[in-house]
Amino acid sequence: MTTETVDYDLLIPNNVGLAGDPKLRRALEQWHPGYIDWWMSMGPDGFQMADVWLRTAISVEKEGWAKFDYVKMPEYRWGILLAPEVENRTIPCGEHVGEPVWTEVPGAYRAMLRRLIVIQGDTEPASVEQQRFLGSTAPSIYDMRNLFQVNVEEGRHLWAMVYLLQKYFGRDGREEAQELLERQSGSADKPRMLGAFNEATPDWLSFFMFTYFTDRDGKMQLEALAQSGFDPLSRTCRFMLAEEAHHMFVGYTGVKRIVERTAQAMADGGVEDPYDTEAIRRLGVIDLPAIQRKTNLHFSLTLDLFGSEESTNAANFFNAGVKGRFHEDRLEDDHRLVDSTYPVMRTVDGDLRQVEVPALNALNARLRDDFIEDCQAGITRWNNEIAEHGIDFEITLPHVAFNRAIGEFGDISVTPDGSIVAREDFDGGRGDWLPTTEDQAYIESLMQPQLVPGEFAGWIAPPSRGIQGKPTDFEYVKLP
Ligand SMILES: [Fe+2]
Ligand SMILES: [Fe+2]
Repeated sequence: MTTETVDYDLLIPNNVGLAGDPKLRRALEQWHPGYIDWWMSMGPDGFQMADVWLRTAISVEKEGWAKFDYVKMPEYRWGILLAPEVENRTIPCGEHVGEPVWTEVPGAYRAMLRRLIVIQGDTEPASVEQQRFLGSTAPSIYDMRNLFQVNVEEGRHLWAMVYLLQKYFGRDGREEAQELLERQSGSADKPRMLGAFNEATPDWLSFFMFTYFTDRDGKMQLEALAQSGFDPLSRTCRFMLAEEAHHMFVGYTGVKRIVERTAQAMADGGVEDPYDTEAIRRLGVIDLPAIQRKTNLHFSLTLDLFGSEESTNAANFFNAGVKGRFHEDRLEDDHRLVDSTYPVMRTVDGDLRQVEVPALNALNARLRDDFIEDCQAGITRWNNEIAEHGIDFEITLPHVAFNRAIGEFGDISVTPDGSIVAREDFDGGRGDWLPTTEDQAYIESLMQPQLVPGEFAGWIAPPSRGIQGKPTDFEYVKLP
Protein backbone atom coordinates (compact mmCIF):
# COMPACT_ATOMS: atom_id res chain seq x y z
CA MET A 1 0.00 0.00 0.00
CA THR A 2 1.35 3.44 -0.83
CA THR A 3 0.62 6.18 1.62
CA GLU A 4 0.81 9.68 0.33
CA THR A 5 2.29 12.21 2.64
CA VAL A 6 -0.50 14.48 3.64
CA ASP A 7 0.02 17.98 4.88
CA TYR A 8 -2.07 17.50 7.95
CA ASP A 9 -2.01 21.02 9.24
CA LEU A 10 -3.35 22.23 5.94
CA LEU A 11 -5.81 19.39 5.45
CA ILE A 12 -6.99 19.05 8.99
CA PRO A 13 -7.98 22.26 10.69
CA ASN A 14 -7.07 21.63 14.29
CA ASN A 15 -6.31 23.26 17.58
CA VAL A 16 -4.76 20.20 19.16
CA GLY A 17 -1.19 20.84 18.05
CA LEU A 18 -1.22 18.13 15.41
CA ALA A 19 1.89 19.49 13.68
CA GLY A 20 3.98 18.97 16.81
CA ASP A 21 2.57 15.58 17.77
CA PRO A 22 4.24 12.96 15.55
CA LYS A 23 2.71 10.02 17.41
CA LEU A 24 -0.83 11.26 16.88
CA ARG A 25 -0.07 12.17 13.28
CA ARG A 26 1.15 8.68 12.59
CA ALA A 27 -1.97 7.15 14.10
CA LEU A 28 -4.20 9.46 12.08
CA GLU A 29 -2.21 8.86 8.89
CA GLN A 30 -2.79 5.15 9.30
CA TRP A 31 -6.47 5.56 9.96
CA HIS A 32 -7.15 8.14 7.25
CA PRO A 33 -7.11 5.92 4.09
CA GLY A 34 -9.60 3.55 5.73
CA TYR A 35 -11.81 6.49 6.60
CA ILE A 36 -11.79 7.73 3.00
CA ASP A 37 -12.57 4.20 1.77
CA TRP A 38 -15.46 4.08 4.21
CA TRP A 39 -16.71 7.50 3.11
CA MET A 40 -16.54 6.53 -0.59
CA SER A 41 -18.35 3.23 -0.10
CA MET A 42 -20.75 4.10 2.73
CA GLY A 43 -21.14 7.89 2.37
CA PRO A 44 -23.66 9.78 0.18
CA ASP A 45 -24.36 7.52 -2.77
CA GLY A 46 -24.02 9.07 -6.23
CA PHE A 47 -22.94 12.58 -5.22
CA GLN A 48 -19.29 12.25 -4.29
CA MET A 49 -18.21 14.37 -7.27
CA ALA A 50 -20.81 17.12 -6.78
CA ASP A 51 -19.77 20.59 -5.62
CA VAL A 52 -21.69 21.22 -2.44
CA TRP A 53 -21.95 24.58 -0.72
CA LEU A 54 -20.80 23.44 2.72
CA ARG A 55 -19.64 25.03 5.90
CA THR A 56 -16.33 23.80 7.24
CA ALA A 57 -15.38 24.26 10.87
CA ILE A 58 -12.04 26.04 10.83
CA SER A 59 -11.75 27.52 14.32
CA VAL A 60 -13.56 27.52 17.62
CA GLU A 61 -14.02 31.27 17.95
CA LYS A 62 -17.66 32.23 18.32
CA GLU A 63 -17.46 34.59 15.36
CA GLY A 64 -16.39 32.88 12.19
CA TRP A 65 -15.86 29.28 13.27
CA ALA A 66 -17.32 28.19 9.97
CA LYS A 67 -16.34 28.92 6.41
CA PHE A 68 -18.85 28.41 3.55
CA ASP A 69 -17.71 27.35 0.10
CA TYR A 70 -18.20 24.78 -2.66
CA VAL A 71 -16.52 21.52 -1.70
CA LYS A 72 -16.54 18.01 -3.09
CA MET A 73 -17.45 15.91 -0.07
CA PRO A 74 -14.46 13.52 -0.18
CA GLU A 75 -12.28 16.65 -0.04
CA TYR A 76 -14.05 18.06 3.01
CA ARG A 77 -11.59 19.21 5.65
CA TRP A 78 -12.63 17.10 8.61
CA GLY A 79 -10.99 18.93 11.46
CA ILE A 80 -10.19 18.24 15.09
CA LEU A 81 -11.44 21.10 17.15
CA LEU A 82 -11.86 21.42 20.88
CA ALA A 83 -13.80 24.20 22.56
CA PRO A 84 -11.50 26.62 24.41
CA GLU A 85 -10.20 25.50 27.76
CA VAL A 86 -12.19 26.83 30.71
CA GLU A 87 -9.69 28.20 33.18
CA ASN A 88 -9.57 26.40 36.52
CA ARG A 89 -12.38 24.06 35.53
CA THR A 90 -13.17 21.50 38.20
CA ILE A 91 -14.82 18.08 38.09
CA PRO A 92 -18.51 18.93 38.23
CA CYS A 93 -19.96 15.82 39.88
CA GLY A 94 -19.36 12.58 41.72
CA GLU A 95 -16.84 11.66 44.34
CA HIS A 96 -14.15 13.96 42.93
CA VAL A 97 -16.41 16.99 42.67
CA GLY A 98 -14.45 20.22 43.00
CA GLU A 99 -11.07 18.68 42.19
CA PRO A 100 -9.22 19.99 39.11
CA VAL A 101 -10.32 18.30 35.86
CA TRP A 102 -8.18 15.56 34.35
CA THR A 103 -6.14 16.36 31.27
CA GLU A 104 -5.01 12.74 30.99
CA VAL A 105 -7.15 9.63 31.38
CA PRO A 106 -7.29 8.59 35.03
CA GLY A 107 -6.22 4.94 35.19
CA ALA A 108 -9.14 3.90 37.36
CA TYR A 109 -11.67 5.15 34.80
CA ARG A 110 -9.90 4.23 31.61
CA ALA A 111 -12.23 1.39 30.61
CA MET A 112 -15.30 3.45 31.43
CA LEU A 113 -14.15 6.42 29.39
CA ARG A 114 -13.13 4.30 26.45
CA ARG A 115 -16.54 2.65 26.41
CA LEU A 116 -18.37 5.99 26.51
CA ILE A 117 -16.25 7.38 23.67
CA VAL A 118 -16.65 4.26 21.53
CA ILE A 119 -20.44 4.22 21.95
CA GLN A 120 -20.69 7.90 21.04
CA GLY A 121 -18.25 7.40 18.16
CA ASP A 122 -20.24 4.48 16.77
CA THR A 123 -23.38 6.56 16.27
CA GLU A 124 -21.63 9.14 14.08
CA PRO A 125 -20.77 7.04 11.00
CA ALA A 126 -23.94 5.00 11.56
CA SER A 127 -26.21 7.90 10.67
CA VAL A 128 -24.20 8.63 7.51
CA GLU A 129 -24.73 5.00 6.49
CA GLN A 130 -28.44 5.21 7.26
CA GLN A 131 -28.83 8.32 5.11
CA ARG A 132 -26.62 7.39 2.19
CA PHE A 133 -29.33 6.86 -0.42
CA LEU A 134 -31.39 9.97 0.32
CA GLY A 135 -29.54 12.30 -2.04
CA SER A 136 -31.19 10.78 -5.11
CA THR A 137 -34.70 11.62 -3.85
CA ALA A 138 -34.02 15.10 -2.48
CA PRO A 139 -37.11 17.34 -2.57
CA SER A 140 -34.86 20.27 -3.51
CA ILE A 141 -31.26 21.28 -3.99
CA TYR A 142 -31.53 23.22 -0.73
CA ASP A 143 -32.55 20.10 1.19
CA MET A 144 -29.91 18.01 -0.53
CA ARG A 145 -27.27 20.43 0.66
CA ASN A 146 -28.57 20.24 4.23
CA LEU A 147 -28.43 16.44 4.12
CA PHE A 148 -24.82 16.51 2.95
CA GLN A 149 -23.93 19.12 5.58
CA VAL A 150 -25.27 16.83 8.27
CA ASN A 151 -23.37 13.89 6.74
CA VAL A 152 -19.95 15.58 6.61
CA GLU A 153 -20.38 16.85 10.16
CA GLU A 154 -21.25 13.37 11.43
CA GLY A 155 -18.05 12.33 9.67
CA ARG A 156 -16.22 15.04 11.61
CA HIS A 157 -17.80 13.85 14.85
CA LEU A 158 -16.32 10.43 14.12
CA TRP A 159 -12.93 12.14 13.70
CA ALA A 160 -13.44 13.87 17.04
CA MET A 161 -13.97 10.56 18.85
CA VAL A 162 -11.14 8.88 16.92
CA TYR A 163 -8.84 11.71 17.98
CA LEU A 164 -9.62 10.99 21.64
CA LEU A 165 -9.10 7.25 21.18
CA GLN A 166 -5.81 7.66 19.36
CA LYS A 167 -4.42 10.41 21.52
CA TYR A 168 -5.34 9.04 24.94
CA PHE A 169 -5.89 5.28 24.70
CA GLY A 170 -2.79 3.88 23.01
CA ARG A 171 -3.01 0.62 21.13
CA ASP A 172 -6.51 -0.39 22.16
CA GLY A 173 -7.70 3.10 21.25
CA ARG A 174 -6.26 2.62 17.77
CA GLU A 175 -7.99 -0.74 17.50
CA GLU A 176 -11.32 0.74 18.54
CA ALA A 177 -10.83 3.51 15.94
CA GLN A 178 -10.41 0.85 13.30
CA GLU A 179 -13.51 -1.02 14.39
CA LEU A 180 -15.59 2.13 14.14
CA LEU A 181 -15.03 1.82 10.38
CA GLU A 182 -15.89 -1.87 10.32
CA ARG A 183 -19.28 -2.09 11.99
CA GLN A 184 -22.11 -1.18 9.64
CA SER A 185 -25.62 0.09 10.19
CA GLY A 186 -28.12 -2.72 9.68
CA SER A 187 -25.43 -5.37 9.12
CA ALA A 188 -26.34 -8.89 10.24
CA ASP A 189 -22.85 -9.83 11.49
CA LYS A 190 -21.32 -6.48 12.48
CA PRO A 191 -24.14 -4.09 13.30
CA ARG A 192 -23.76 -0.67 14.90
CA MET A 193 -23.91 -0.78 18.68
CA LEU A 194 -27.31 0.83 19.33
CA GLY A 195 -30.72 -0.20 17.98
CA ALA A 196 -31.96 3.05 16.46
CA PHE A 197 -28.74 3.28 14.46
CA ASN A 198 -29.49 0.03 12.70
CA GLU A 199 -32.93 1.13 11.49
CA ALA A 200 -33.45 2.24 7.90
CA THR A 201 -33.99 5.89 6.96
CA PRO A 202 -35.99 5.13 3.83
CA ASP A 203 -37.50 8.53 3.01
CA TRP A 204 -37.14 12.23 3.74
CA LEU A 205 -39.87 12.38 6.36
CA SER A 206 -37.90 9.70 8.23
CA PHE A 207 -34.74 11.76 7.75
CA PHE A 208 -36.34 14.86 9.26
CA MET A 209 -37.80 12.82 12.13
CA PHE A 210 -34.39 11.24 12.69
CA THR A 211 -32.64 14.60 12.82
CA TYR A 212 -35.37 16.01 15.07
CA PHE A 213 -35.48 13.16 17.59
CA THR A 214 -32.36 11.02 17.24
CA ASP A 215 -29.87 13.86 16.72
CA ARG A 216 -31.47 15.38 19.80
CA ASP A 217 -30.57 12.26 21.74
CA GLY A 218 -27.07 12.96 20.39
CA LYS A 219 -27.33 16.46 21.79
CA MET A 220 -28.34 15.18 25.23
CA GLN A 221 -25.52 12.63 25.32
CA LEU A 222 -23.02 15.27 24.22
CA GLU A 223 -24.35 17.65 26.87
CA ALA A 224 -23.81 14.95 29.51
CA LEU A 225 -20.31 14.17 28.20
CA ALA A 226 -19.53 17.90 27.99
CA GLN A 227 -19.83 17.73 31.80
CA SER A 228 -17.10 15.12 31.99
CA GLY A 229 -14.21 15.57 34.38
CA PHE A 230 -11.97 14.29 31.57
CA ASP A 231 -11.40 17.69 30.04
CA PRO A 232 -10.45 16.71 26.46
CA LEU A 233 -13.78 14.85 26.18
CA SER A 234 -15.66 17.79 27.62
CA ARG A 235 -14.04 20.26 25.23
CA THR A 236 -14.58 18.00 22.21
CA CYS A 237 -18.27 17.58 23.00
CA ARG A 238 -18.79 21.26 23.64
CA PHE A 239 -17.63 22.06 20.14
CA MET A 240 -19.65 19.22 18.58
CA LEU A 241 -22.79 20.71 20.12
CA ALA A 242 -22.43 23.77 17.88
CA GLU A 243 -22.81 21.50 14.84
CA GLU A 244 -25.53 19.35 16.39
CA ALA A 245 -27.77 22.40 16.65
CA HIS A 246 -27.87 22.60 12.85
CA HIS A 247 -28.88 18.94 12.53
CA MET A 248 -31.88 19.51 14.77
CA PHE A 249 -32.72 22.69 12.86
CA VAL A 250 -32.85 20.60 9.68
CA GLY A 251 -35.24 18.16 11.36
CA TYR A 252 -37.43 20.77 12.99
CA THR A 253 -37.83 22.94 9.90
CA GLY A 254 -38.17 19.88 7.65
CA VAL A 255 -41.19 18.51 9.51
CA LYS A 256 -42.60 22.02 9.91
CA ARG A 257 -42.45 22.60 6.15
CA ILE A 258 -44.17 19.26 5.49
CA VAL A 259 -46.93 20.08 7.99
CA GLU A 260 -47.30 23.55 6.47
CA ARG A 261 -47.60 22.17 2.94
CA THR A 262 -50.18 19.58 4.01
CA ALA A 263 -52.25 22.16 5.87
CA GLN A 264 -52.06 24.57 2.93
CA ALA A 265 -53.05 21.90 0.41
CA MET A 266 -55.98 20.84 2.60
CA ALA A 267 -57.17 24.42 2.89
CA ASP A 268 -56.80 25.01 -0.86
CA GLY A 269 -58.45 21.71 -1.70
CA GLY A 270 -61.34 22.21 0.70
CA VAL A 271 -60.54 19.10 2.75
CA GLU A 272 -61.47 19.74 6.37
CA ASP A 273 -61.22 16.28 7.90
CA PRO A 274 -57.58 15.50 8.73
CA TYR A 275 -58.47 11.78 8.78
CA ASP A 276 -59.80 11.75 5.21
CA THR A 277 -56.61 10.04 4.07
CA GLU A 278 -57.81 9.30 0.58
CA ALA A 279 -58.77 12.90 -0.21
CA ILE A 280 -55.57 14.25 1.33
CA ARG A 281 -53.30 11.83 -0.48
CA ARG A 282 -55.03 12.73 -3.76
CA LEU A 283 -53.59 16.21 -3.15
CA GLY A 284 -50.08 14.72 -3.19
CA VAL A 285 -49.24 15.65 0.40
CA ILE A 286 -48.62 13.63 3.57
CA ASP A 287 -51.64 13.33 5.86
CA LEU A 288 -51.17 14.45 9.45
CA PRO A 289 -52.06 11.05 10.99
CA ALA A 290 -49.21 9.50 8.98
CA ILE A 291 -46.90 12.21 10.33
CA GLN A 292 -48.14 11.35 13.84
CA ARG A 293 -47.33 7.67 13.25
CA LYS A 294 -43.80 8.56 12.13
CA THR A 295 -43.47 10.73 15.22
CA ASN A 296 -44.53 7.80 17.41
CA LEU A 297 -41.98 5.53 15.76
CA HIS A 298 -38.97 7.82 15.88
CA PHE A 299 -39.71 9.09 19.37
CA SER A 300 -40.02 5.59 20.84
CA LEU A 301 -36.93 4.27 19.02
CA THR A 302 -34.97 7.24 20.31
CA LEU A 303 -36.12 6.78 23.92
CA ASP A 304 -34.52 3.33 23.83
CA LEU A 305 -31.15 5.03 23.27
CA PHE A 306 -31.20 6.34 26.83
CA GLY A 307 -30.89 2.78 28.14
CA SER A 308 -32.53 1.35 31.22
CA GLU A 309 -34.26 3.95 33.38
CA GLU A 310 -32.46 2.65 36.43
CA SER A 311 -28.84 1.84 35.81
CA THR A 312 -25.84 1.16 38.00
CA ASN A 313 -23.56 1.86 35.02
CA ALA A 314 -24.95 5.37 34.78
CA ALA A 315 -24.50 5.76 38.54
CA ASN A 316 -20.87 4.65 38.22
CA PHE A 317 -20.21 7.11 35.37
CA PHE A 318 -21.61 9.93 37.48
CA ASN A 319 -19.80 8.92 40.66
CA ALA A 320 -16.54 8.70 38.77
CA GLY A 321 -17.15 12.16 37.30
CA VAL A 322 -16.79 10.97 33.71
CA LYS A 323 -20.39 11.84 32.68
CA GLY A 324 -22.64 14.43 34.27
CA ARG A 325 -26.27 15.38 34.09
CA PHE A 326 -27.76 17.77 31.52
CA HIS A 327 -26.46 21.23 32.54
CA GLU A 328 -24.72 19.75 35.60
CA ASP A 329 -22.78 22.98 36.11
CA ARG A 330 -26.02 24.98 36.31
CA LEU A 331 -27.81 22.67 38.75
CA GLU A 332 -27.90 23.64 42.38
CA ASP A 333 -27.43 20.63 44.60
CA ASP A 334 -24.53 18.70 46.10
CA HIS A 335 -23.61 17.11 42.71
CA ARG A 336 -23.13 13.86 44.59
CA LEU A 337 -26.75 12.69 44.86
CA VAL A 338 -25.98 10.66 47.94
CA ASP A 339 -29.33 11.01 49.66
CA SER A 340 -31.62 12.43 46.98
CA THR A 341 -34.34 10.64 45.07
CA TYR A 342 -35.84 10.99 41.61
CA PRO A 343 -39.26 9.87 40.35
CA VAL A 344 -39.23 7.16 37.71
CA MET A 345 -42.17 5.38 36.15
CA ARG A 346 -42.54 1.72 36.90
CA THR A 347 -45.11 -0.99 36.38
CA VAL A 348 -46.72 -1.59 39.75
CA ASP A 349 -49.56 -4.13 40.02
CA GLY A 350 -50.29 -3.85 36.32
CA ASP A 351 -50.31 -0.07 36.43
CA LEU A 352 -47.81 2.61 35.43
CA ARG A 353 -46.84 4.62 38.49
CA GLN A 354 -44.19 7.13 39.50
CA VAL A 355 -41.92 5.77 42.19
CA GLU A 356 -39.21 7.67 44.03
CA VAL A 357 -35.87 5.88 43.66
CA PRO A 358 -32.29 6.86 44.59
CA ALA A 359 -31.39 9.68 42.20
CA LEU A 360 -28.02 8.14 41.49
CA ASN A 361 -29.68 5.11 39.92
CA ALA A 362 -32.12 7.18 37.87
CA LEU A 363 -29.70 9.22 35.78
CA ASN A 364 -30.74 7.67 32.47
CA ALA A 365 -34.40 8.37 33.29
CA ARG A 366 -33.51 11.92 34.20
CA LEU A 367 -31.60 12.57 30.98
CA ARG A 368 -34.50 11.06 29.06
CA ASP A 369 -36.95 13.38 30.86
CA ASP A 370 -34.77 16.36 29.93
CA PHE A 371 -34.82 15.10 26.35
CA ILE A 372 -38.62 14.84 26.28
CA GLU A 373 -38.93 18.40 27.52
CA ASP A 374 -36.49 19.52 24.83
CA CYS A 375 -38.58 17.74 22.15
CA GLN A 376 -41.80 19.48 23.06
CA ALA A 377 -40.98 23.05 21.99
CA GLY A 378 -40.70 22.27 18.29
CA ILE A 379 -43.83 20.14 18.31
CA THR A 380 -45.81 23.02 19.77
CA ARG A 381 -44.68 25.14 16.83
CA TRP A 382 -45.63 22.41 14.32
CA ASN A 383 -49.08 22.47 15.91
CA ASN A 384 -49.30 26.25 15.60
CA GLU A 385 -48.75 25.80 11.88
CA ILE A 386 -51.68 23.35 11.74
CA ALA A 387 -53.92 25.60 13.85
CA GLU A 388 -53.15 28.65 11.70
CA HIS A 389 -54.71 26.80 8.77
CA GLY A 390 -57.85 26.10 10.82
CA ILE A 391 -57.30 22.35 10.95
CA ASP A 392 -58.38 20.45 14.03
CA PHE A 393 -55.38 18.20 14.68
CA GLU A 394 -52.52 18.11 17.14
CA ILE A 395 -49.29 16.18 16.89
CA THR A 396 -48.48 14.74 20.31
CA LEU A 397 -45.64 12.77 21.82
CA PRO A 398 -46.72 9.25 22.70
CA HIS A 399 -46.45 7.96 26.25
CA VAL A 400 -42.92 7.16 27.33
CA ALA A 401 -43.82 3.46 27.70
CA PHE A 402 -45.20 3.14 24.16
CA ASN A 403 -43.42 0.78 21.75
CA ARG A 404 -40.33 0.31 23.87
CA ALA A 405 -37.76 -2.44 23.56
CA ILE A 406 -35.36 -1.49 26.35
CA GLY A 407 -35.79 -0.87 30.05
CA GLU A 408 -38.80 -0.96 32.34
CA PHE A 409 -41.35 -1.10 29.50
CA GLY A 410 -39.50 -3.44 27.17
CA ASP A 411 -41.73 -6.41 27.94
CA ILE A 412 -45.15 -4.79 28.13
CA SER A 413 -47.51 -3.40 25.52
CA VAL A 414 -48.61 0.18 26.08
CA THR A 415 -50.78 2.38 23.88
CA PRO A 416 -49.66 5.88 22.86
CA ASP A 417 -51.88 7.33 25.59
CA GLY A 418 -50.34 5.13 28.25
CA SER A 419 -52.73 2.21 28.83
CA ILE A 420 -51.21 -1.21 29.35
CA VAL A 421 -52.91 -3.65 26.98
CA ALA A 422 -52.59 -7.26 25.95
CA ARG A 423 -50.14 -8.05 23.16
CA GLU A 424 -53.04 -8.89 20.77
CA ASP A 425 -54.68 -5.56 21.44
CA PHE A 426 -51.44 -3.76 20.77
CA ASP A 427 -51.04 -5.61 17.50
CA GLY A 428 -54.65 -4.74 16.66
CA GLY A 429 -53.95 -1.03 17.18
CA ARG A 430 -50.53 -1.01 15.58
CA GLY A 431 -51.83 0.29 12.24
CA ASP A 432 -53.24 3.37 13.97
CA TRP A 433 -50.11 4.04 15.97
CA LEU A 434 -47.10 3.13 13.85
CA PRO A 435 -46.37 3.64 10.14
CA THR A 436 -48.10 1.02 8.01
CA THR A 437 -46.83 -0.55 4.80
CA GLU A 438 -49.41 1.60 2.97
CA ASP A 439 -48.06 4.75 4.64
CA GLN A 440 -44.56 3.78 3.66
CA ALA A 441 -45.48 2.94 0.08
CA TYR A 442 -47.36 6.22 -0.29
CA ILE A 443 -44.56 8.32 1.22
CA GLU A 444 -41.98 6.61 -0.94
CA SER A 445 -44.11 7.25 -4.02
CA LEU A 446 -43.75 10.98 -3.29
CA MET A 447 -39.95 10.78 -3.11
CA GLN A 448 -39.20 12.09 -6.59
CA PRO A 449 -36.13 14.30 -6.85
CA GLN A 450 -36.59 18.00 -7.53
CA LEU A 451 -33.24 19.28 -8.72
CA VAL A 452 -34.06 22.70 -10.14
CA PRO A 453 -32.68 25.39 -7.80
CA GLY A 454 -35.56 27.19 -6.11
CA GLU A 455 -38.11 24.47 -6.92
CA PHE A 456 -39.52 22.20 -4.21
CA ALA A 457 -41.32 18.86 -4.34
CA GLY A 458 -45.07 19.23 -3.95
CA TRP A 459 -45.24 17.65 -0.48
CA ILE A 460 -42.98 20.17 1.27
CA ALA A 461 -43.13 23.96 1.56
CA PRO A 462 -40.06 26.04 0.68
CA PRO A 463 -37.99 27.20 3.66
CA SER A 464 -38.53 30.74 4.88
CA ARG A 465 -34.93 31.63 4.04
CA GLY A 466 -31.81 30.16 2.51
CA ILE A 467 -28.49 29.29 4.10
CA GLN A 468 -26.08 31.92 5.36
CA GLY A 469 -27.73 34.82 3.55
CA LYS A 470 -28.07 33.01 0.22
CA PRO A 471 -31.49 32.97 -1.47
CA THR A 472 -33.59 29.79 -1.49
CA ASP A 473 -32.98 29.38 -5.23
CA PHE A 474 -29.21 29.45 -4.83
CA GLU A 475 -27.43 26.53 -6.50
CA TYR A 476 -26.51 24.81 -3.23
CA VAL A 477 -25.35 21.70 -5.04
CA LYS A 478 -23.75 21.74 -8.49
CA LEU A 479 -24.36 18.34 -9.99
CA PRO A 480 -21.49 17.05 -12.10
FE1 LIG B 1 -22.97 13.73 15.56
FE1 LIG C 1 -25.95 15.04 14.46
